[in-house]
Amino acid sequence: MVKDGIEVISNVISSSKETFTNSGGVIPEKAAREQVRCTLPVIHQALDKADVSNEQIDAIAVTKGPGLLVSLLVGSTVARTLSSIWDKPLIGVHHTLGHLSSTWLDAIDEYKFPILSLSASGGHTDLWLRESHTKGKLLGRTRDDAAGEAFDKGAQLLGLSYPGGPSISKSAIDGNFDAFKFPLPLHDDESMDFSFSGLKTSLKYLLRDTPDFENQISDITASYQHAICKHLIDRIKKALEVYTQVKEVHLVGGASANIHLRTLAEEAIKPAVLRVPMKISYCTDNAAMIGAAAYYLVKEADEKAYEEFETVASMPLDEVVL
Ligand code: KG4
Ligand code: ZN
Repeated sequence: MVKDGIEVISNVISSSKETFTNSGGVIPEKAAREQVRCTLPVIHQALDKADVSNEQIDAIAVTKGPGLLVSLLVGSTVARTLSSIWDKPLIGVHHTLGHLSSTWLDAIDEYKFPILSLSASGGHTDLWLRESHTKGKLLGRTRDDAAGEAFDKGAQLLGLSYPGGPSISKSAIDGNFDAFKFPLPLHDDESMDFSFSGLKTSLKYLLRDTPDFENQISDITASYQHAICKHLIDRIKKALEVYTQVKEVHLVGGASANIHLRTLAEEAIKPAVLRVPMKISYCTDNAAMIGAAAYYLVKEADEKAYEEFETVASMPLDEVVL
């Protein structure tokens, strides 16, 4: 539950992450069944925590997509039902716009556009030049895997648990990130796109050629994590060279929880200022960011710009229609 796009009154998350710790990733049908079980209790908890009644709500926001179709359908069906019985407007939000709005949650400072935003999750890796909350230009996107996916697939190769981001960064704490060399993808490419599949393949060959890799696991995870982060920062730096008017860079999406990435970024983007979501729970998927995005969609009330955003966003919407 969010007020004025900034103040988080309650943010209840029911995650099926633990269910998939040893399965290498999410199993869509299992996730949707869990979601059916948890959605109404989560809504009740969110209302209770916020101490708000349904009459006090102005509007209901829901993720339109992209994502797992079954999960999106569960969400949109519940949102449609509540909007109808409570007689409240329903606002559909693109998942990426939700992440892009997450730096405003609980924010204290005023942020100044244009903003360069990197949204890096398990499903997308986008670099946006944003003129306002809902308007912007997609500068680059991943050509294959997403950054979070590179962590997840890397963790699977290494025998570490899902999701890979937290397990790799935990293992990397005591490691030497210069111990193993990985390529810097697309460095000489003219675009600002990303590519992570080569890093994953390099890791696969490194493990094949290092029979005792279990004894060097923290050096390997540190080097692999460093390679992913370096590639992300390389693209940000390239954009900053072109768009010199940008004074602040935002990191959002699940991978923005990565401390090594934040540390490298802070130094690399100077004199621009780095902003990340105020809490780690605002980096990974959460309802508050969808509520905040919905607020800005209404405030800026530029449906054409939003339609363009949805068309340009690197991940197309699934068949979910609101
Ligand atoms: O945004 P998100 O919660 O869900 C999607 O939209 O995909 O992002 C999840 C992704 C996973 O791939 C996970 O491994 C990654 O974010 N992630 C991290 C960290 N925490 C989560 N990646 C790197 N470092 C982390 N600390
Ligand atoms: Zn996400």
